Amino acid sequence: MRKAIFLQFLTGVLACLSVFSVIAEDPYRYYTWTVTYGTVSRLGGHQQGILINGLFPGPPIEAVTNDNIIVNVINKLDEPFLITWNGVKQRRTSWQDGVLGTNCPIPQNTNWTYKFQLKDQVGTYNYFPSTQMHRVFGGYGALNIAARSVISIPYPIPAQEFTILVSDWQKFSSTYYFFLFNLQALQKRLDDGHALPVPDSLLINGRPNSHCPLLVKKIIFKWVLMYLIISGKTYKFRVSNLCIETSINFRIQGHTMTLVEVEGAHTLQEVYESIDVHVGQSVAVEITLNGSPKDYYIVASSRFTKPILTTTAILHYDGSHTPPSLPLPIAPTYHLHWSMKQARTIRTNLTANAARPNPQGSFHYGQIRVVRTIVLENTAVKINGKLRYAVNGISYVDPSTPLKLADWYNISGVFDLKTIKDKPTHGALAKPGVSVIGLTLHDYVEIVFQNNDTTVQSWHLDGSSFYVVGYGGGQWTTDMKKKYNLADAVSRHTVQVYPSSWSAVYVSLDNKGMWNLRSAIWSRRYLGQQLYLRVWNNEHSVYTETDVPPNALYCGKAKRP
Ligand SMILES: *[C@@H]1O[C@H](CO)[C@@H](O)[C@H](O)[C@H]1NC(C)=O
Ligand SMILES: *[C@@H]1O[C@H](CO)[C@@H](O)[C@H](O)[C@H]1NC(C)=O
Ligand SMILES: *[C@@H]1O[C@H](CO)[C@@H](O)[C@H](O)[C@H]1NC(C)=O
Ligand SMILES: *[C@@H]1O[C@H](CO)[C@@H](O)[C@H](O)[C@H]1NC(C)=O
Repeated sequence: MRKAIFLQFLTGVLACLSVFSVIAEDPYRYYTWTVTYGTVSRLGGHQQGILINGLFPGPPIEAVTNDNIIVNVINKLDEPFLITWNGVKQRRTSWQDGVLGTNCPIPQNTNWTYKFQLKDQVGTYNYFPSTQMHRVFGGYGALNIAARSVISIPYPIPAQEFTILVSDWQKFSSTYYFFLFNLQALQKRLDDGHALPVPDSLLINGRPNSHCPLLVKKIIFKWVLMYLIISGKTYKFRVSNLCIETSINFRIQGHTMTLVEVEGAHTLQEVYESIDVHVGQSVAVEITLNGSPKDYYIVASSRFTKPILTTTAILHYDGSHTPPSLPLPIAPTYHLHWSMKQARTIRTNLTANAARPNPQGSFHYGQIRVVRTIVLENTAVKINGKLRYAVNGISYVDPSTPLKLADWYNISGVFDLKTIKDKPTHGALAKPGVSVIGLTLHDYVEIVFQNNDTTVQSWHLDGSSFYVVGYGGGQWTTDMKKKYNLADAVSRHTVQVYPSSWSAVYVSLDNKGMWNLRSAIWSRRYLGQQLYLRVWNNEHSVYTETDVPPNALYCGKAKRP
């Protein structure tokens, strides 16, 4: 009784308050993350891994649209460190993006607090280290954004959600390595101009294969991930590819999957037996079982690699006493054409909403005039006799001063908007450089990724999603525009580019800031396959961009006395 009266009183007070503050503040979520090196035991060996609060993978962030996220990162590694929030748009505040072009790294034995809002976003995202090759060792995790309670979701409400993070892993005792497998050794190998060897295995949520003889399985039982589900109900799986370099195919034995979301876009709910997820990408699928309640394998296998790496987890039905049985469901291996064909079927459901109640299709991206076409070609090059990767002839090198700080404080000599051209520089010698493309806030731009290489590329943009309007083989020409999907292309933050092929995207640059456009294939990014987009206008206003945060770190030419 007293409680009820109190609540009534409180509601009254809140009603009064709301007269003064019309917009209720969005909720805050606080995290304190201690980042350490620790021992990870996988594949029968122990090796160095990056743990967050002792966990590998790191703790998930489960949030709701518009939540404010406050993460105090305590860096206990031996090197400066940053985490980036893959796909979080950081509206008006590239200050929180956590890449070396926007932030000074957090020095060892100090802490720094990220503060950002998950403004207008809903879907499946993740985070990982952006500095050096830290990401190979871990430090990654899920970042899931649920819709606010007032927003309906355009697919059946699942009984439960499961997060699947697939990563690739190099075995410590691998014959490839005659030296200690640590960050320095790995980076030395890359710096010396040697490619990384093919990974030894794939992990699901940090665990290796569960598909081995039953006896062995009993021993390593703690590694076998099980997802308990109940017959007849609908479940959602959020799948992220957190590999360093491996495209994957995902499937669930005995089940078809209905695709419901891709990196924040609600898709046409097509049914797939298996689905390709390229490096840096995320998808959400739903399954319903109406078959017999036994256990099934959840399978992730590598695409376009030799040998094919396969790993499994187990889908366990309530009441099942039957372990999963072989064979594993088959999947494409090298079939590139299959992948491109499937990619074209992933489209936006124009009548479905996203983070807001209005339909996604109300933004007619196909009818807006493109003000600029940028063609970016990735190439493997030799600079001073060593392997590097370049984009339009420039192999990116991080300056010691973050680009964003240089821009804000008018520090000259850090970057120059003339370094990189809008078109490939065929035949010209590649150079190291700081590539930044200058764009005006609200520019509507076409970016074509041209891949002459023999491996699949994966390109990611921070700060905005882009519409993937086309994939095609060979050399892109303006004629290809005729084949674009200008009606219901999916909007996402990472796009794959097939070998000797191109992918084209349209992007509305409505987010002022300095944004990393990078290869999601981590050794390529480390060796120069990245650049920045400077989205700018001369108006200094908090409505377009927030001021430098009070806790900003200063380094390089921006360093304070
Ligand atoms: C470091 O952590 C402390 C609390 O442990 C916090 O008060 C302080 O603001 C943090 N520093 C930064 C730069 O975020
Ligand atoms: C598209 O979204 C609408 C509205 O939420 C939904 O009713 C419909 O089933 C969806 N269609 C497809 C093909 O996914
Ligand atoms: C940088 O230059 C711009 C334009 O000249 C000016 O508006 C701004 O105040 C300068 N910023 C700083 C920190 O000096
Ligand atoms: C990519 O291929 C096209 C067409 O064959 C060729 O014109 C271009 O020079 C190639 N670029 C590189 C960097 O090899």
